[in-house]
Amino acid sequence: MSAQSPVGEPEVRTAPPRRDPAAKRQHLDVCLYEDVEYRKPTGLEAWTFQNEALPEVSLEHLDLSCSLAGRRLAAPLMISPMTGGTPRAGELNLRLARVAQRFGLAMGVGSQRLALEDAARARWFKVRHVAPDIALFANFGGAQLVRGWGVDEARRAVEMIEADALFIHLNPIQEAIQGGDQDFRGLSARLQGLCTALHAEGIPVFAREVGFGLSENAARRLLDCGIAGLDCAGAGGTSWARVEALCARSERRRVLGERFAEWGIPTSQSILNVRRVSADIPLIACGGLRDGMDVARALALGADVGSMARAMLLRANESEAALAAFVESVLTELRVCMFGSGAANVKALRGRVFRDDPAV
Ligand SMILES: Cc1cc2nc3c(=O)[nH]c(=O)nc-3n(C[C@H](O)[C@H](O)[C@H](O)COP(=O)(O)O)c2cc1C
Repeated sequence: MSAQSPVGEPEVRTAPPRRDPAAKRQHLDVCLYEDVEYRKPTGLEAWTFQNEALPEVSLEHLDLSCSLAGRRLAAPLMISPMTGGTPRAGELNLRLARVAQRFGLAMGVGSQRLALEDAARARWFKVRHVAPDIALFANFGGAQLVRGWGVDEARRAVEMIEADALFIHLNPIQEAIQGGDQDFRGLSARLQGLCTALHAEGIPVFAREVGFGLSENAARRLLDCGIAGLDCAGAGGTSWARVEALCARSERRRVLGERFAEWGIPTSQSILNVRRVSADIPLIACGGLRDGMDVARALALGADVGSMARAMLLRANESEAALAAFVESVLTELRVCMFGSGAANVKALRGRVFRDDPAV
């Protein structure tokens, strides 16, 4: 018999099987040391900044600040959710968080499913003590909502890391390849119930793809659920189908992952899709952003914040100093894009690109 659903219809089907920590460890290693990137680009590279020969702005006095989930960010840059739950992941999270604090960035931790199922793992998600001021996002999967998780788990995830908001990640293609959760029926209703309950408690719920992009239809339906913001993580960076192919334990799953390695809406299109549906929903852009120009282009296309996963992970794995140097370079490049296109602040960047299509 299924339990009474805590967040709307439909009722839960079965309890989710426990997450295996070894699988998460393998994701880290594969993302660090294997060729996991899409062959196709994000599409951001096709957009060129309007060069402003008479910018009337000072490179030194640009305003990069913005807000996200009720916090002020010193710059529109985020460290995407990646990891947690093991000692090594905990150390990486601390490095990421210290750098986020130093530069005034936002950050998400990886799926907290491991720690929600085994409280002993919670300490490897906690970063608030080193990053008291950052916009911090908790995280678990939409698939868990379908399997019965709800307000209680969401609250626990947020409280565990003293987060400002919760990410619900959506990853149907990854689950299909993994042989994980493959029944997403009823997710909208449960997401809607969760958004309503958490909104009443002042906790914003953001929905995010993990790197396959959002269609206009998905964006519209997520807005209808009452989500407070979106991360439209699209294709062009880390291919989660390719990651799963490399992690596969059977030849059949490896072939399936390889077949879908290029599946996904490129990040540029994913941003435009969301903005066609809503001009003002808080929007994080992720998926294949590698430098400050990519961040600037994402902002020019309509995102409020640019976010990076693997690019940050590679530097954090090297050292905290390497990560800080990388963030410094990203912010410098972003500033030069703003200066060169005459944008005194982040909002003013929007629209300052044109499509650089040699065929036209
Ligand atoms: C090692 C690793 C683990 C990840 N784990 C999660 C996760 O637990 N939850 C989530 O929402 N996204 C997760 N992601 C997805 C990223 O947040 C991001 O959406 C995706 O990698 C695309 O961005 P990129 O091209 O900058 O890597 C993970 C990414 C990496 C590299």
